[in-house]
Amino acid sequence: MNAPLTETMTTETTDDVAAVKGVMLRDAWYYALASADLRAGTTTHRTLLGEPVLIGRDAGGKIFALRDTCPHRGTLLSRGPFDGKEVACPYHGWRFATNGQCTAIPSQTADQRPQPADIRAQTFPAHEAAGNIWVFVGARNATPPPLPALPEAAKRPQLHLVMRFPCNIDLAVIGLMDPAHGAFVHKSAVWRSEQSIHEKRKSFSPAPGALGWRMDKHRASSNSRAYRLFLGGQPETEITYTLPSVRIEHASTGRYNYVGLTACTPVTADATDVHHVMYWDIPGGALWRPVVRQVAHRFLDQDRVAVIAMQEGLAFSPSTMLVRDADTQVRWYYRLKREWLAAAAEARAPENALTPTVLTWRS
Ligand code: FES
Ligand SMILES: [Fe+2]
Repeated sequence: MNAPLTETMTTETTDDVAAVKGVMLRDAWYYALASADLRAGTTTHRTLLGEPVLIGRDAGGKIFALRDTCPHRGTLLSRGPFDGKEVACPYHGWRFATNGQCTAIPSQTADQRPQPADIRAQTFPAHEAAGNIWVFVGARNATPPPLPALPEAAKRPQLHLVMRFPCNIDLAVIGLMDPAHGAFVHKSAVWRSEQSIHEKRKSFSPAPGALGWRMDKHRASSNSRAYRLFLGGQPETEITYTLPSVRIEHASTGRYNYVGLTACTPVTADATDVHHVMYWDIPGGALWRPVVRQVAHRFLDQDRVAVIAMQEGLAFSPSTMLVRDADTQVRWYYRLKREWLAAAAEARAPENALTPTVLTWRS
């Protein structure tokens, strides 16, 4: 049965959603890996939006990214040796500088073409900040926008977790942003329980200068006991979500801070890496790492299991609905995603049509 289209409830197959489902947005920075996972003089492979990317750190510590297929016959360059300056293909030894310029083709005689000067491997803009490595995936001549901005307090990560969700980018993103699943998916003594569900009213504003929105600064929810245990006092929280897939949460008592960065990176059309990076600055804060790692890992895994159950249900193509106001952010996500694609197709700057709004739901 199809739900009626009313003010408070709408089928999910509206224009906002249908045209953009599962599409991987290009011309954006994507979280590739944690800085700590890339030592100087090494390279690694990541698949980002279905594209093969070699990410490396040269002998001087500078990061770079190349298309990870050899321009000769396609071998993964990341399988070859790297001397801290040049990547060598493991098959015929063609060599490439970190800017993509070919520097050696061992099989060619001096009078044969091509010569190294004729060959370049494609590069990707790569940037490192606050312990995170981002890669820009998009048109070769596009100018990358600024990186997602983290609060001042986020300098050196205390923790980085990554978990692969076997689903498209949308299910990962909306599975994590959903405000009403906590009591059911994350049952836990220190976090939430069904008994603690109560009405929430939160005000939201459009994210400044980006396609996204911000849950304005508010006193941390009374069923988020973990924050109070961790930071002490009466923390205030602000959450910003910006497309394509970056959520930044900042809880602060004024004195101490917690910053959580959640960034979803499409690997392929049906696999998404969920990165979660945490910063905190309470005294002796590093001592918390083992326990926080364990809790965060369990949390993320609960989300992964929930998303898989949804994905398995959706495989039967049920009609679904987005209710107000608990599902409103999901709706915003799809609406802004549509705007992103429309703006790209029309070669104009995207417009954030969201307006300040108060949302009410129970969780
Ligand atoms: S495939 Fe890379 S050098 Fe031949
Ligand atoms: Fe969750």
